[in-house]
Amino acid sequence: MKIRACIFDLDGVIVDTAKYHFLAWKRLADQLGINFTEKDNERLKGVSRMASLEIILGLGNKIIDQDKKNELARLKNLWYNDYIRKMTPEEILPGSLDFIKELKKADIRVAVGSASKNTPVILDRVGISKLFDAVADGNNVEKAKPDPEVFLKASEMLGIEPEECIVFEDALAGVQAALNAGMICIGIGSPKVLKKAHFVVKGLYEMSLEKLIMIEKNVLS
Ligand code: BG6
Ligand code: MG
Repeated sequence: MKIRACIFDLDGVIVDTAKYHFLAWKRLADQLGINFTEKDNERLKGVSRMASLEIILGLGNKIIDQDKKNELARLKNLWYNDYIRKMTPEEILPGSLDFIKELKKADIRVAVGSASKNTPVILDRVGISKLFDAVADGNNVEKAKPDPEVFLKASEMLGIEPEECIVFEDALAGVQAALNAGMICIGIGSPKVLKKAHFVVKGLYEMSLEKLIMIEKNVLS
């Protein structure tokens, strides 16, 4: 097998934090008098904090200056942190740990590639900070997905070439970022939504080393 590393998006792949993002954004939207639904929340998946705020302001046709935007993003993050600080290892999505451990046993490197600046807090709260060989996140990259920067950074930290990495992603922007990085991408979610991914599974509980080898073989043949 050519693959030497797997890079995992965090939110929606290893943990389900979308519900906490929603509650915090909803509180902000309510305060601003903007109607914000769970369906709207889907558009924020994989999108950076400031870009998410722009989408919400757009829903309410609100135009505000940058200082005010910074203040609103800060407030949302405060509220979001109230939720994630209470996260426990039970919130790790099914199958994630078993699959990652199986990869490590087979000497395949594992990394996180996430847009979130809260990645270190979340990994710590759910007790998996030491599981990964590298963590690339919103704190060490500048450009948001679909830019490939976060995945390229992860491969650089691992010292493994991009074409030897496979990415696991639940968001459209993230799938595009992986493809832009020249990596194979396995989507987590619906094949109808993640059309561009090389292969789609419902969750990491559907993954195994054997399946990974099969997917790689099909993609490269
Ligand atoms: C992504 C989430 O992983 O991180 C987005 O899917 C979120 O919803 C983004 O906006 C940035 O997260 P944070 O924690 O830095 O606000
Ligand atoms: Mg995600």
